[in-house]
Amino acid sequence: MTTTNNRISAFLMLWLIICASSSPFSGVVHTSSKVGLPAVLPCSVASHLESDHTPHIQWHTISYSVLERMGQDQFQGEAYRDRANVPEELLVRGNCSLFLQDVRFSDAGIYESYLVYGESNIKNRIFIQSVHLAVIDHKAIKSVETGADLILDLYTHQAEQVIFQNSTETNWTVLWEKDGIINNKDYLKKRDHKLILRRVTNSNSGTYKVLDLEGLALSTVKVKVTEPVLIKETEALEKQSALGQATMSMPPLSLITLFLTFNLMLQMN
Ligand SMILES: *[C@@H]1O[C@H](CO)[C@@H](O)[C@H](O)[C@H]1NC(C)=O
Ligand SMILES: *[C@@H]1O[C@H](CO)[C@@H](O)[C@H](O)[C@H]1NC(C)=O
Ligand SMILES: *[C@@H]1O[C@H](CO)[C@@H](O)[C@H](O)[C@H]1NC(C)=O
Repeated sequence: MTTTNNRISAFLMLWLIICASSSPFSGVVHTSSKVGLPAVLPCSVASHLESDHTPHIQWHTISYSVLERMGQDQFQGEAYRDRANVPEELLVRGNCSLFLQDVRFSDAGIYESYLVYGESNIKNRIFIQSVHLAVIDHKAIKSVETGADLILDLYTHQAEQVIFQNSTETNWTVLWEKDGIINNKDYLKKRDHKLILRRVTNSNSGTYKVLDLEGLALSTVKVKVTEPVLIKETEALEKQSALGQATMSMPPLSLITLFLTFNLMLQMN
């Protein structure tokens, strides 16, 4: 009985070890970031940490090298130039998280981190962490009053074009282009990754899309331009109710007049 149980548990152990070592994605961590914003891909080497030097860390995707850090030296892959970092002050404490700036749609995918160890000419590496990064677009619904300014966020320098679809039409018109002359329209202004449409009217109601170089939508904003009718409407309502009251009080008044006139006529007779 006990030997069978022992055999079963030994078999289970072996099976677990095989599964854990054969599938590097068994412990994959899922994270997501909105396009144009920063992302942090978690990683920890605290358990492998040797007190006298900071670990040597590699991060790469299935096809590209993302980042390698050895002490103060850091190498960034071509697609991640000036955008990737494993901060040294965190790495000293065993936190090997990868910090990405200005996330792109093309950054989506599986990332793997490795700890490199050994003498200068014989290097080995230990797999640490798999992270799946999802990159999502921005979506919003906005309501703006006629005459007010509409502010569209471009989020990132990846923004190449803003297109607009009037709510009553099916076609799209280019509203703004990064290097275009459309820039010069006086109702359009660009300031700090934001596009400002001055004094909107009903014809500005519709859908706005911010596109990147590949024509993918970084952001989709549905805009409804509303009439600032709230005050006028209440005024009109008040007038109406005042009129209503006047009409209501009319019959008794006329009755009194009628009564008085009748009395006067009686007295005269
Ligand atoms: C690493 O540092 C970042 C930023 O401070 C933090 O968000 C994250 O939780 C840390 N990860 C670990 C494993 O300590
Ligand atoms: C597309 O829209 C613009 C204005 O938004 C309009 O002037 C033009 O006629 C439209 N084109 C088509 C083919 O519907
Ligand atoms: C957009 O739609 C409005 C009606 O909502 C219409 O009056 C206006 O002419 C349209 N503007 C353009 C540019 O197509």
